Amino acid sequence: MAQEARAREAIERVLLSEEEIARRVRELAGQISDDYADADDLVLVGVLKGSFIFLADLARRLTVPHHVDFIALSSYNRGTVSTGAVRMIMDTRSSISNRHVLVVEDIVDTGHTLDYLLRTFRARNPASLRVCVLVSKPERRQVEVQIDYLGFEVPDMWLVGYGLDYADRFRTLPYIAALKEEVYR
Ligand code: IMP
Ligand code: MG
Repeated sequence: MAQEARAREAIERVLLSEEEIARRVRELAGQISDDYADADDLVLVGVLKGSFIFLADLARRLTVPHHVDFIALSSYNRGTVSTGAVRMIMDTRSSISNRHVLVVEDIVDTGHTLDYLLRTFRARNPASLRVCVLVSKPERRQVEVQIDYLGFEVPDMWLVGYGLDYADRFRTLPYIAALKEEVYR
């Protein structure tokens, strides 16, 4: 079955269209470009795998010079439920000390992943540390985390597409959609 047909079976509704996402990404890139106009050595750190599409689109819209790096984190999950324990699977290639770091994350749910990442990064003494998140589910928060640039707030649903997955599927759908509850509960 084609990806689109398979997705349609699993999806409740499209929450954010390709056009809406593109418009918001342009706005965020404009804001970030203004804020970092005077910053030398800006590095975007994308959190794999979920942020790879968002980061690619955002970075290409920035008008300020920047580097791109990645980390991979894993939360110990039970299905779609985070247990709160996070570990680093892959660190950045280059050091972040004394550099302006912008973390690029796909989604913040309980906040545990971002909380772990920010604590880890702060200890490395970056020149500055900010966070850009495409999607936040505020109702789900267990720890408060700093978000400097936010794309969208959404209700408590499991989302897929534009980098977001369910069991490593649906990542490359061009829009963001909510899965049917019976698929993930
Ligand atoms: P947190 O640690 O609970 O904030 O969860 C963060 C991570 O869980 C994100 O970086 C995603 O990888 C994953 N996640 C949370 N909610 C969703 C969702 O609705 N769709 C896909 N992945 C999600
Ligand atoms: Mg993520």
